[in-house]
Amino acid sequence: MHLHKYEKIWLIFGGGALVLFLLILGFGAFYLGTHPQSHGVTIDPENVEANEAFERENLGLTQVDDDRYIVNIVASTFSYDLGDDGEGNAVSHIEIPKGSTVLFQAVTTDVIHGLNIAGTNVNMMVEPGYISSLEVELNQTGEFTLVCNEYCGVGHHMMFATVEVVDDESGNETAAE
Ligand code: CUA
Repeated sequence: MHLHKYEKIWLIFGGGALVLFLLILGFGAFYLGTHPQSHGVTIDPENVEANEAFERENLGLTQVDDDRYIVNIVASTFSYDLGDDGEGNAVSHIEIPKGSTVLFQAVTTDVIHGLNIAGTNVNMMVEPGYISSLEVELNQTGEFTLVCNEYCGVGHHMMFATVEVVDDESGNETAAE
C-alpha cells in the first residue's frame, strides 16, 4: 500500500497528538493527583443535622482563622438556609473580607439544586445524599449573587442570596508586605 507523503505526515501528527495528550492526562491524574472537586462525601438527606457542619447553629458564615472562613448551606425548595442572625431573622446576605479563603459546604434536603456565585469560580451541583464542597480564595470585591442554577421547581427563581466581598480594613495588604 502506498501512502502519500502528506498522508504520512498527518498520520504521524495525529498519532503523536493522541499520545501527547494521553501522557498529559496521565501525568495530571496519577502524578499530580488531579481529581474532581467532589470527593463523594455522603450524608443522609433526611437528617442532615446529624452532621455537625449542618446543625442549625453552624449554618452560614463561620470564621475559623485570620483569613479563613467556612460557609455551611442547607438548600431546599426554595431557599438557601444560611442560619439566622441571632434575632430569629433568616440570613440572606453574607460579608467576607477580600483575600479570604472560604470553604463552601452545601447539602440539599430534597431535590437537586445548584449553587453558583455568579462572577466567581463557585459553581456546584447540590445533590441529595452528598456534601458538595469547594474552597476558593475571594480576591475581587463587590456584591455577588448566589443563585440556584439547577431547575428545581416552581420557586426555582426565588432561590438566591448575596455574598459581598468587602475590603478588609484591618489590612491584608499590610500583612502581605
Ligand atoms: Cu433550587 Cu433551582
